[in-house]
Amino acid sequence: MMEAMSSSPIAPTDPDLLIDFRDISFVRDGRTLLGDITWQVELDERWVVIGPNGAGKTTLFRLAAAEAFPTSGVAFLMGEQVGKTDMRDLRTMIGMTSSAIGGRIPENEKVADLVISAGYAILGRWREAYEDMDFEHAIDTLEQVGALHLRDRTWGTLSEGEKKRVLIARALMTNPELLLLDEPGAGLDLGGREDLVGYLGELAMDPDAPATVMITHHVEEIPRGFTHAMLLDEGGIVAQGLIDDVLTSENLTTTFHQQITLDRIDGRYFARRARTGGAHRAPRS
Ligand SMILES: Nc1ncnc2c1ncn2[C@@H]1O[C@H](COP(=O)(O)OP(=O)(O)OP(=O)(O)O)[C@@H](O)[C@H]1O
Ligand SMILES: [Mg+2]
Repeated sequence: MMEAMSSSPIAPTDPDLLIDFRDISFVRDGRTLLGDITWQVELDERWVVIGPNGAGKTTLFRLAAAEAFPTSGVAFLMGEQVGKTDMRDLRTMIGMTSSAIGGRIPENEKVADLVISAGYAILGRWREAYEDMDFEHAIDTLEQVGALHLRDRTWGTLSEGEKKRVLIARALMTNPELLLLDEPGAGLDLGGREDLVGYLGELAMDPDAPATVMITHHVEEIPRGFTHAMLLDEGGIVAQGLIDDVLTSENLTTTFHQQITLDRIDGRYFARRARTGGAHRAPRS
């Protein structure tokens, strides 16, 4: 139906929408990695994206970070239609963290330089000397994530939790409109996770913070103050919307193909497999 209408004008996006995906798909090597994705993220929203390994979460981020073009459908980012605008301009408005980015950082890179250089890396240019203003902003950003004491350390000497904080500071350095966090809690111990969840909760409550989308494998990592959730499985959306409507035992059971029991305690979420007498895994539909 959409193909037949492809010559009709595309309705403009709403200025409050940072992400406006309209029935997009992403196909690689004949495989539909994402399909039927219609998703809108507004200025003040904080989203969590959950789904099994291989569900398409990171692929969704690549589309949201203007790193990949949808195969079909229409995508707007920050009010600009993807494919009709310079992707590099879009990328300057997006802050992203992932373990892949962390893996590309040289061991001997100094933390302060790593944060300061974020802007230049994103803008695709380098300068010999950083301006004082950039240095001060980097210091402020490191302080904001509780990592100021690490500023003179080198990347290779940081613990996993410290690395996560520095990567978030780096993502925030450019004052992005959209913050994308791909598994920020991966590899953290309990204390480190709780520190991160607490910090991300503060960020979620800050009205000046960018719209945020976080991918996680664990509902325990969802900070207080997150407003929306998307559940993804096999490249498709199982459920999306307000977090309390989406995060239910029933929806998690469908997404993970096992009987999951979810509890919400004091604004946090806890999930486990339900104790049943029968088969552990619910049949795939
Ligand atoms: N460039 C690509 N070419 C072909 N297949 C790809 C490509 N990128 C990702 N895939 C495949 O697409 C599927 C979704 O990958 P993706 O990385 O988005 O999953 P994910 O939900 O982030 O999983 P995880 O929880 O393990 O990080 C996987 O089967 C992956 O192998
Ligand atoms: Mg992933």
